[in-house]
Amino acid sequence: MFRLQRALPERYVEATPDQLTTWIGAAKSELGPRVLILGHHYQRDEVMRWADARGDSFGLSRTAAERRDADYIVFCGVHFMAESADILTAPSQQVILPDLNAGCSMADMADIESVEDAWESLATVTDVERIVPLTYMNSSAALKAFVGRHGGAVCTSSNARAVLSWALDPAGTGSAQGDKVLFFPDQHLGRNTGFELGWGDADMRVWNPLLDMGGLDDTDVKEATLLLWKGHCSVHQRFRPEHVEAFRAEHRGGLVFVHPECAHDVVEMADQVGSTDFLIRAVAEAPSGSVIAVGTEIHLVKRLDDEHPDKTVVSLDPLVCPCSTMFRVDAPHLCWVLERLVEGEVVNRITVDPDTAAWARRALQRMLDIT
Ligand code: 13P
Ligand code: SF4
Repeated sequence: MFRLQRALPERYVEATPDQLTTWIGAAKSELGPRVLILGHHYQRDEVMRWADARGDSFGLSRTAAERRDADYIVFCGVHFMAESADILTAPSQQVILPDLNAGCSMADMADIESVEDAWESLATVTDVERIVPLTYMNSSAALKAFVGRHGGAVCTSSNARAVLSWALDPAGTGSAQGDKVLFFPDQHLGRNTGFELGWGDADMRVWNPLLDMGGLDDTDVKEATLLLWKGHCSVHQRFRPEHVEAFRAEHRGGLVFVHPECAHDVVEMADQVGSTDFLIRAVAEAPSGSVIAVGTEIHLVKRLDDEHPDKTVVSLDPLVCPCSTMFRVDAPHLCWVLERLVEGEVVNRITVDPDTAAWARRALQRMLDIT
């Protein structure tokens, strides 16, 4: 998805870290409770230190929705998170993304046109009324609205199991919403959750949006229970079984904790698997003295290591792997949006049109009702 962040004024580009600290502090106190700064776990420390609340993508949107007194929500994260915050906050609240180029490459792997094309193609071979579309939180508002319109739901990495169970009822209680799921945009979260619930390879097919009929034939579509969109996170897909083997060879008794956006062969080898909030809790609960390799974004891994001096926390991939879009939000951009607010100008506002927001809200509400 193409977005354009205009170049920052020189004042911010040339500022020293100390100047930025002074300016951000002054602007933040001038704005007081009218501004709420939210920091996703993957943000840099120079940004995170200013966050009024830290959290995962959904937790932060909820925080935004609960803070009705804040006129401005400065979302230090990526575009889909700011959109979700706009959907869940009051119309009078304005959501700001410090750098418009802070997207999510995974979210961009499923655009609304490709999903609508897939739906039309599927309708030529199967009854789409029996397909439940599920979208990961890491998706555009348009996709969440699509899911809302077609009886599906949003899920996050912490509740994908509950949402998939709601859709397909693997326990056989008779409450299934359909016979198949189209899961986008992350094939890995879909596959990992499917395996966790007892499905196997034979029940899953990857839908490649670049190919006719997703690269599948009619039999594939009919046989599949889980149609997994061919999308991935470039950060989490880097972790490989070789990293787990190398870490365990070096640290006997070492623990491996990974995010479910990692490929299934890595997830299978890990000691613990879960969302960013889960990983934070898992490290906190690990015995003192543990050596832990974490398979997730490097800023969170480093922060975990800093916050637990009694444990050693390292990246599962020894080569640093930051999320390049999260990394776009930095102190100069944060300073710029705050100083513009002090001057009464809202820059980089993220808005979702009312119709899209209403349907997306319905898909988000289903998720809340399920979990
Ligand atoms: P969370 O939903 O855990 O915040 O993860 C978001 C994300 O982008 C993971 O790569
Ligand atoms: Fe998107 Fe991956 Fe970055 Fe998360 S870590 S924001 S999924 S690109």
